[in-house]
Amino acid sequence: MKQKGEKISMLTAYDFSLAKIVDSTGTDIILVGDSAGNVMAGYQTTLPITLDEIIYHASSVVRAVKRAMVVVDLPFGTYQSNSRKALQGAIRVMKESGAHAVKLEGGRDVKKSIKRICKAGIPVMGHLGLTPQSIYKFGTYTVRATEQQEAQLLKDDALLLESLGCFGMVLEKIPAKLGAEVATSVNIPVIGIGAGNQVDGQVLVLQDMLGITHEFEPRFLRRYMNLYEDIGKAVKRYNLDVRTGNFPSEYEQY
Ligand code: KIV
Ligand code: NA
Repeated sequence: MKQKGEKISMLTAYDFSLAKIVDSTGTDIILVGDSAGNVMAGYQTTLPITLDEIIYHASSVVRAVKRAMVVVDLPFGTYQSNSRKALQGAIRVMKESGAHAVKLEGGRDVKKSIKRICKAGIPVMGHLGLTPQSIYKFGTYTVRATEQQEAQLLKDDALLLESLGCFGMVLEKIPAKLGAEVATSVNIPVIGIGAGNQVDGQVLVLQDMLGITHEFEPRFLRRYMNLYEDIGKAVKRYNLDVRTGNFPSEYEQY
């Protein structure tokens, strides 16, 4: 698709029902992101989610998907300590969920893990820029690589990811100009989230773009619905109907 200049559409999904809808629309890649920790479990960061938890989400998604490529995030702590453990985690994801690829955050710092997982025949997607598993290093969710030194490190890491055999990468919350530079510097697809529109595709968290979440408003987030409000309205109507005896109606009973 990159070679043909076709943009790649990627969205997250963490469960069977929504994955089924997303897949039916022809979305190219479904990401079982560790943002499931925030969205589904209510954790403050992506750090706590476990391998068992992400595998549960991933297998639910895989059961729903007929067409899309399913990529699964390796949780924090499963690939940073050593490459053997990283490979074991990636193998568990592939065997137990039936997904097609894994994603992990970082470049040179996790080089050995990427190499080892790729060598085992498991497609690896990289993730650079604002990598949420490193939030306590950054200290803030603001845009990354605005300065020359960090931008250069990111560009070098992007080339490294390609040379290690990654099939693609996510760039999160970096200047659009840097996103464009990286996308032209590598042959593998670069999927952006807050990385401008000169990259090869875009990804958003499904619950964010549907407006189910509503606590934050990053500039990169386009909300296509306000389901927080709409679901709230529907539930209020239901509550009212139950309390007034208006539900169930004559027809809605046996
Ligand atoms: O976990 C996630 O949702 C992600 C995307 C934002 C790229 O990694
Ligand atoms: Na993630």
